[in-house]
This record gives sequence, structure tokens and C-alpha cells, in this order.
Amino acid sequence: MMTRRSFPALKLSATSLGALVGVLCLAGATAAHAAGPGNAARGAVIFAAGDCVGCHTDLKAKTAPLSGGAPMPTDFGVFYAPNITSDKVHGLGAWTEAEFKRAMREGKGKGGEFLYPVFPYPAFSGMSDQDISDLWAFMKTVPASNRASKAHETKFPFGMRPLLIGWRVMFFHKGPLAPVAGKSAEWNRGRYLAEAVAHCGECHSPRNKLGGIDEKNAYAGNPAGPDNQNAPNITQHKDGIGSWSVGEIEEILNSGGKPDGDYIGGGMGLVVEGTAKLSAADRKAIAVYVKSLEARASTPKPAAAAKKG
Ligand code: HEC
Ligand code: HEC
Repeated sequence: MMTRRSFPALKLSATSLGALVGVLCLAGATAAHAAGPGNAARGAVIFAAGDCVGCHTDLKAKTAPLSGGAPMPTDFGVFYAPNITSDKVHGLGAWTEAEFKRAMREGKGKGGEFLYPVFPYPAFSGMSDQDISDLWAFMKTVPASNRASKAHETKFPFGMRPLLIGWRVMFFHKGPLAPVAGKSAEWNRGRYLAEAVAHCGECHSPRNKLGGIDEKNAYAGNPAGPDNQNAPNITQHKDGIGSWSVGEIEEILNSGGKPDGDYIGGGMGLVVEGTAKLSAADRKAIAVYVKSLEARASTPKPAAAAKKG
């Protein structure tokens, strides 16, 4: 099977994110003609909607795409998303498609070790086999970078990967996501994109002390979201976006524009760069799904709750 890593028009050192994904999509479209099960052009869209770049590229330091991310501070230590370019030593160049599939579906590394759920595999696990193959085909079009991944700076005892077994038993439900009977195809498509690909709930849901998603309050907001940003309540509650129409939710996913005329920022800005690349029908499907989220009151900041109790 041929990969097109040496596609001559690729100039990826100019890395504004928009330019980056634009160029990569072109490369994807070219590689789509290559033989093999994955379709890189379709994979480019999954790649954008899954925001792989957002974590796996140090955008501020302007390092090569997917060559490893900026520090991600968490309660469990500082994590660095590794190099996932096709470099044989520092990236995924020596991985098989089956190993990649296992990482996405089961959260396991090349040697079968447990991966930390800072990598949102609990969401990606829901992806279809076809989407994972397409994604893999697309990732092969990204030029290899020999930048070494940084080691995580975990707090004791979280550096011990085998301990993740407990977390997995409690919080990990292996995919792929099965459609819900009795719901429309559009709603199911929206649920799939929101839950498995764009992982909206990974940011917009509060977490318990062990870092698991508090499922009873899913989508009710996380004041201590990634990078300490407030990812607001997006349920139908008055604390959330109950007053927004499906069209208004579609618009935010398309342009980042909010009903009040303001624009979205922070981590959501990168998310929108991805959802803007979906088809209008896919954005509408996500909006229809979000509009169906059960109304739930916002949860207080964990620190405030702890003081009260
Ligand atoms: C929220 C941040 C985040 C996002 C988004 C993200 N990743 Fe990661 N990813 C990580 C972190 C952190 C790790 C390291 C986990 C570990 O060491 O256990 C990782 C690990 C991986 C690994 C395992 C690599 C290895 O060397 O073991 C693969 C493969 C991977 N990510 C692919 C992807 C793909 C494909 C996407 C987009 C669909 C993606 N990631 C999106 C943070 C992220
Ligand atoms: C990386 C974390 C992250 C992910 C993933 C994410 N969001 Fe957000 N979202 C945020 C943050 C942070 C804000 C607040 C941004 C701001 O205030 O400018 C936000 C804001 C929003 C808002 C505006 C709410 C309001 O009251 O202003 C909506 C709607 C929204 N997100 C929907 C979604 C949907 C739908 C998805 C999945 C397709 C998603 N988000 C994925 C972090 C995220």
C-alpha cells in the first residue's frame, strides 16, 4: 500500500491551524486514490472533528503537526500528548493498523499497556471500524517528524499504568457505539459524532474525584475544564442552552458565532475549526442531538462544593 508522505506541495512549517488542516485535507484528497481499506479524504474530516491536532501539536511553539503537544496540567500530573506522526522511532511509523485500532477502541498502547484517559479514547472507542480505518489512512499522509515525545510528569502513584485497570472497570464502556432504536437516523448520526468523534462530553461534563465523567450530570458543564477553562452547561436547562434553537447550535458549530452576537473562544475555538469541516447535514445532526439533551442544572465548582461539605 502506498502512502503519500512525500507529497511535494506540503509545506507544513507554516502552521496556522486553519492553513494546516486545509493543506492536510488536500493531501488527504490525493491519497484517497491509494489502494487499501481506509479512505484518507473521509479520514481528514474525522481527524478535524476529533481535534487530534489540538492536543498532539504544540500550537504555541509552532512545532510540526502531530509531533507532540503542549503540557496538559491535570489533578493527576502534567501530561504531554505524544508524537503521532509516521516517524518510525518517535511516532506511529512502526504501528500496524490493528494496533492503532486497538489504541482508539481499547485505550492500549503498542505494547498493550493501558493509556491514560487524558487521551479521550473512552469517546473514540465509539467510532466505527470504517472511520478508524479512514483516520489511519489520513494520518499516514501527515509528514513524519523525529521530534521526541515528552514523558508525562505524573503525581505518585498515577505514574503506574497498571493501576488504570480500576479506572477502566469503573468508567470505560467499550464501543463501537450502537444506534439507539426508535430514534431517527439524524439523531443517531448526531449522537455518534458528538459522543464518539467530537467528544463534546469530555469537556462539557463534570468529573468525579477519579477523573471519570459524572454520567448523571453529563453535559451540565465543567467549570474546571481542560486548561482550567469553563466549559459551560449545554443541556436544555435554563442554566444551559435551552433557549437556543437547532439553527443557533448549528451556527456555533459552523462559524463559532453565538446567538448574542459574540464569538466562541478558548478550547471551543479549536473544536469549531473541526466541526466547520463537517457537512451541513452532519452539523445539523449534532445540533438535533444536543437539542435533545436532558435538562440538568449546572454543577458547582468542585472546590466550592468541597468547602460546603
Ligand atoms: C484531549 C487531548 C487529546 C486529543 C483530543 C487526542 N489525543 Fe491522542 N493522546 C493524548 C494523550 C495525552 C496521549 C498519551 C496517553 C498515554 O500516554 O497514556 C495520547 C495518545 C494517543 C495515542 C497512543 C500513542 C502512543 O504512542 O502510545 C494515539 C494513537 C493517539 N493518541 C491518537 C489520537 C488521534 C487519532 C486523535 C484524534 C482522533 C487524538 N489522539 C486526539 C491526548 C489527546
Ligand atoms: C476541548 C474542550 C471542548 C470540547 C471538546 C467541546 N467544547 Fe464546547 N465549549 C468549550 C469551552 C471552553 C466553551 C466556552 C468558550 C467560551 O466561553 O468562549 C464552550 C462553549 C460551547 C457552547 C456555547 C455555550 C454557551 O452557553 O455560550 C456550545 C453550544 C458548545 N460549546 C457546544 C459543544 C459541542 C456541541 C461540542 C461537540 C461537537 C463541544 N462543545 C465540544 C469546550 C469544549
